[in-house]
Amino acid sequence: MTIAIDVHLPADQATAMEQDVREGLARVPKELSPKYFYDERGSQLFEDITELEEYYPTRRERQILVERSAEIVAAAGNPATLIELGSGSASKTRHLLDAMRDAGTLRAYVPVDISEEITRETATALVEEYPGLDVHGLVCDFEAHLERTPTTSEAGARLIAFLGGTIGNLYPDERAAFLCRIAALLDPGDHLLLGTDLVKDVDRLELAYDDPGGVTAEFNKNVLCVLNRELGGDFDPDAFAHVARWDAEHEWIDIGLRSLADQDVRLEALDLTVDYAAGEVMRTEISTKFTRPRLEESYAGTGLKMADWFTDPAGDYALSLAQLA
Ligand code: TRP
Repeated sequence: MTIAIDVHLPADQATAMEQDVREGLARVPKELSPKYFYDERGSQLFEDITELEEYYPTRRERQILVERSAEIVAAAGNPATLIELGSGSASKTRHLLDAMRDAGTLRAYVPVDISEEITRETATALVEEYPGLDVHGLVCDFEAHLERTPTTSEAGARLIAFLGGTIGNLYPDERAAFLCRIAALLDPGDHLLLGTDLVKDVDRLELAYDDPGGVTAEFNKNVLCVLNRELGGDFDPDAFAHVARWDAEHEWIDIGLRSLADQDVRLEALDLTVDYAAGEVMRTEISTKFTRPRLEESYAGTGLKMADWFTDPAGDYALSLAQLA
């Protein structure tokens, strides 16, 4: 049993955020990166969202893992190493680790996450829960540093898990680039396990992103509080309304904040004044929903191909296994 944690965070994270926000606000329509939702309050609000009746994806994904991890692990060739992108507290991951342990092949877990604190806590907890497990964590923005993922030289196949449907938050070109980079990490016999939400009834989709209790609205507006704090902004969250609409052409939920008035917002750290027109919508996230053919198309040309497909009984959510094409 060993624990190692590598930290690859850029020294100038603040500058990266400044550049990113400046660029997004200069676009027409304006846009903010969903990266900035998850400060402490945002992470708590997202936890609250995952417990809402209306927000089914987290529950459905967990259900597939609870019911089918043994099948998934067997289909992935009984891997020895689980690499998880965006591992957090690894609560869903334990179902995969259990199945790998039961298959007798589990040797190493590689959590990759942006939060050093959570990664250390998770690593410590897991070596206790799984005797003999090697944990080699990586603290980084995996969008930027995916290539730093430790590639263990040990024998045995690897499974890279990217859960939570986060792939749906990337634009199609970003998604393709990301899958290409995953393909570059895989050896023959390794697999990617990818969580994707599926196309369904529009009312259900929109309710999942706009609950009547307003938790989702609160979460979305919290990004304005993050900008106020980090960039010396003076956004009034009450001067914006949460919007979440199904875009049938792109098959994504388009999430944004609508300005309720003509207003100027000052961002001191950027020495920037941004003006919003009444009714103008600033995008804060897209959440793409897939069908099996659309996902197969997404893999095409990236060096990967779909090898297997697991859904919950209701067909709300899918975990797909991909391997080198
Ligand atoms: N990545 C999550 C998703 O696409 C995040 C999310 C849930 C979200 N509800 C939201 C993002 C509302 C913005 C607004 O499901």
